[in-house]
Amino acid sequence: MLRVVYLDIVSVEDSYGSPSYQKLPLVVERGFGAKVWDNAGREYIDYLASYGVAFLGHSNPSVVDAVREQASKLMSCHGSLYTPVRSELLERLASIAPRGLTRVYLSNSGAEAVEVAIKLARRYTRKKKIVSMKGGYHGKTFGALSATWNPRYKEAFEPLVPGFVFAEYGDPESLRSCVDGETAGVIVEPVQGESGVIIPPSDYLREVREVCDAAGVLMIADEIQTGLGRTGKMWACEHAGVTPDILLVGKVLGGGLPLSATVARGDIGASLMKGEHTSTYAGNPLVCAAGKAAIEYITSHDVCGEAAKKGGKLLSELTTLAQTKKSVRSVRGLGLMIALELKIDVRNPLLSALSRGLIMGYSGRTILRLLPPVVTDESEMSKAVELIDSVLQ
Ligand SMILES: Cc1ncc(COP(=O)(O)O)c(C=O)c1O
Repeated sequence: MLRVVYLDIVSVEDSYGSPSYQKLPLVVERGFGAKVWDNAGREYIDYLASYGVAFLGHSNPSVVDAVREQASKLMSCHGSLYTPVRSELLERLASIAPRGLTRVYLSNSGAEAVEVAIKLARRYTRKKKIVSMKGGYHGKTFGALSATWNPRYKEAFEPLVPGFVFAEYGDPESLRSCVDGETAGVIVEPVQGESGVIIPPSDYLREVREVCDAAGVLMIADEIQTGLGRTGKMWACEHAGVTPDILLVGKVLGGGLPLSATVARGDIGASLMKGEHTSTYAGNPLVCAAGKAAIEYITSHDVCGEAAKKGGKLLSELTTLAQTKKSVRSVRGLGLMIALELKIDVRNPLLSALSRGLIMGYSGRTILRLLPPVVTDESEMSKAVELIDSVLQ
């Protein structure tokens, strides 16, 4: 009976849904904390956590309560009117943003936050060119896709937005050679997530800042994956002591609901004219309530400290484990953003871990990727390491 239900769900999604997702064979029915349960009641440790969205735990009770209360009060309010919960979210986000970044544009997805950043950079500087990084990932709408490196995502849809060039990630000289008098902005991930947790040299972001300052171009930090505590600091840029001109945040921000933001230096953020960027759902009260609760949870639970501590423990245990495994090339991570690069195809270990109760992600053919929720506990971490050990035998 359960098998029939499973097949029904899968065949309906496969028949009517987007064929563009690389699906895993799992029907998720509910989630709590770092765990989800399938429709047969089987439990899984979720260390992919909706590609980092469920960092504060699935159905985080503070977020659930806030959403429930807001849903019974007001669920829609266009940005052309004012509403208390939106102003509270804006205030809270501005208060945790790097110093000087005071103007917040709310959006519904990471890619849209990138679109806003591109528009702001062009509007403010009145220049056209955007420098992005090889290996960078910024989303799949046309502007964001133009800033994304992987040709596999792009080629079928050309022509994309003109004016984008790519520098070598981690190499300030390469960046310097790409920036010129026509450059509006440089967009960079502090750690490249989708490329497989690529951590640049420790002084790299500071050098990016210097190149931008010297050329008078805007530094856009895409912290959609790294932001809000994931790497052990509120913003990954803090590891390098750098403040960007525009900061992008998404995923964790909505506590599970679709919310992102482009947070800009006051003068840059004020540069758009009336009507130049609006969106019907942006700043929706329900999502704002979730975002406000998420930020309150982050600031009142030492989420950054927990991510640093738990991430450090997981990284060290996986590093020790890797020393006994011929199939592992390297292990790397920052906070709760961890990758195991294998010498073999990830498909079998990934599916085998899934069948034993551990959900992980991947990058390309050889990188296993972990984005564990910060609420994960000791026993889940030990079990996850044990399962990774067993599937890499
Ligand atoms: C660094 C970064 N930027 C942008 C995006 C795009 O976000 P979304 O998928 O919400 O459009 C992602 C998504 O993984 C990301 O990791």
